[in-house]
Amino acid sequence: MKRLSIFVSGGGTNLQRIAEYFSSNPNVEIVNVICNNPNAYAIERAKNLGIPCKLINRAEFKSEDFTKELLNQNIDLIVLAGFLWLVPKHLIDAFPNKIINIHPALLPKYGGKGFYGEHVHEAVVAAKEEYSGITIHYVNEHYDSGDIIFQAQVALEEGETPDSLAAKIHTLEYKHYPEVIEKLTINS
Ligand code: GRF
Repeated sequence: MKRLSIFVSGGGTNLQRIAEYFSSNPNVEIVNVICNNPNAYAIERAKNLGIPCKLINRAEFKSEDFTKELLNQNIDLIVLAGFLWLVPKHLIDAFPNKIINIHPALLPKYGGKGFYGEHVHEAVVAAKEEYSGITIHYVNEHYDSGDIIFQAQVALEEGETPDSLAAKIHTLEYKHYPEVIEKLTINS
């Protein structure tokens, strides 16, 4: 049995998709959801999915006690799914190559501080890129710069808008994030 913890800050559609994907898999359990935003709809989703959700403030998130709590829960993989805070070094060190993130662009382009949510798609469309996509990567102590695990791309079309691109990117995320998580849980 592999034990996942999913960190969220927003709508939680990836959380929903991942939970549904693994609902019939006896080898993977989502132990908890960690949320840093009291207004996130992801909290409601966790509740409806029957997954315990912990709301966390910045001081608590940065504390070694929180890292210890996750260690005590024997978490095998921490999955960031639209989680917007930088992960503290002691948490990364406690879970080497066991924290992953999904970024809605083809890193290393359009990554780093400030490149999140619609800001990413606005920048990609404004630059008239031919392609965008998703990047699933390990998390280190800098934004969006850990080793890349998986990328998938999609072409921008004539008249593409940040919203239409976001929809395409979400489709890629929903397909690939659960599959990559599954592979990592099998290989770990
Ligand atoms: C996704 O596009 C993900 O790539 C990015 O934040 C978004 C989260 O969406 N890191 P949701 O909260 O899963 O709906």
